[in-house]
Amino acid sequence: MKTALEAVEITPGTHWIGALDPGLREFDIILKTANGTTYNSYCVRGSQGVAVIDTVKASHSDEFFARLEQVARYDEISTIVLNHLEPDHSGALPELMRRAPQAKLYISAKAQLMLKALVRDSELDFTIVQTGDTVTLGDRTLRFFSTPFLHWPDTQCTLLEEQQILFSGDVFGCHFCDARLFNDRVGDFRFSFEYYYQHIMRPFREHVLVALELLEPLTLKLIAPAHGPILREAPRSYVQRYRQLASPLLPNEIGAHDKSLLIFYISSYGNTARMAQAVSEGAETIAGVRVSLYDLQAGGDLPFVDLIEEADGIVIGSPTINGDAVKPVWDLLSSLAVIKVSDKLGGAFGSYGWSGEAINMIEDRLRGLKLRVPVKGVRARLIPAAEELERCHDLGRQLALHLTGSLANRVISMSELLANSHE
Ligand code: FEO
Repeated sequence: MKTALEAVEITPGTHWIGALDPGLREFDIILKTANGTTYNSYCVRGSQGVAVIDTVKASHSDEFFARLEQVARYDEISTIVLNHLEPDHSGALPELMRRAPQAKLYISAKAQLMLKALVRDSELDFTIVQTGDTVTLGDRTLRFFSTPFLHWPDTQCTLLEEQQILFSGDVFGCHFCDARLFNDRVGDFRFSFEYYYQHIMRPFREHVLVALELLEPLTLKLIAPAHGPILREAPRSYVQRYRQLASPLLPNEIGAHDKSLLIFYISSYGNTARMAQAVSEGAETIAGVRVSLYDLQAGGDLPFVDLIEEADGIVIGSPTINGDAVKPVWDLLSSLAVIKVSDKLGGAFGSYGWSGEAINMIEDRLRGLKLRVPVKGVRARLIPAAEELERCHDLGRQLALHLTGSLANRVISMSELLANSHE
């Protein structure tokens, strides 16, 4: 296994000059990695200039500069491209620009504010590029593709046209450190690729689909991402996998014109379960809404997250225990960070003994996740009375009407708001 600080030629005149970080076990606090990561950087030599594509985390700068110096002099560098400004790729940029002051820096439009915040140099010179713009290195051409929100607003991809290499930034990457570098030589990294997509790209599924429209038509001999193996064996299969992962999970289950409303509940004595049943029955009275009912005690967060990603609305029922909603509810809500929920509708209900805070807390959390909560939740003390079950029925019916667009958003008066807040 290669561990020396050697630059690695990936195609004639194009080298990997990145850094290995095999000891890393957690990335950005939220991501685990079983064997570290790589910060991939690349150097492209043309007949009239040298380009550096992305840099590395500041802590690994020495490794990066050692490899760069094997394949280019600083005064040869004409072009620096940053596909993404997160510090794991921009860390060595200030020092690179100090060593190669003649080089022109190319970034996306969204990257400029971030660049100023990261580098803190008001004199910093850069050029904004967008889809279709090119930079020439003489006999080689870099073409830019704007791919925002994969996974930051600034992200872009860069194609080396003559060699059909896509420098893809975080896209098609993964946290997997193996000095053998190429996907046909490293260990089995499939789980890392899937894990990375699920945690980094999945919240931006719609943006993935937009980017694929740009990237799928390209003829690619090699994908050179910013993390993990360089994809030279069957590069298109990774593009195709992104298409599969970003496509709807359940295209045939819910009719194209039906809305999907999911009701999750958990119940100590069957009271919140009764309320859930009433919410469900109320929602089912509205044509065009497919209603599903799930007991949180018997499900798993991951399958539920998959369902929620596809749904149009979610309603959550929880008892109040010690002034709080119960843990399975919070577990589910905290699992939603990996999907987009801001376009969905939400609601809450539940039985309680003496205080009943859970419903407001769930509604607040749903609003915090940017769901629309158009109907006030229903609380019932202990065993729900017929009138309270009727209110649950109405909650389901109204939420379903909102889903179908049959109810306009209601304007709540200040007096009503104050009255509700003292309930
Ligand atoms: Fe690898 Fe989003 O930084």
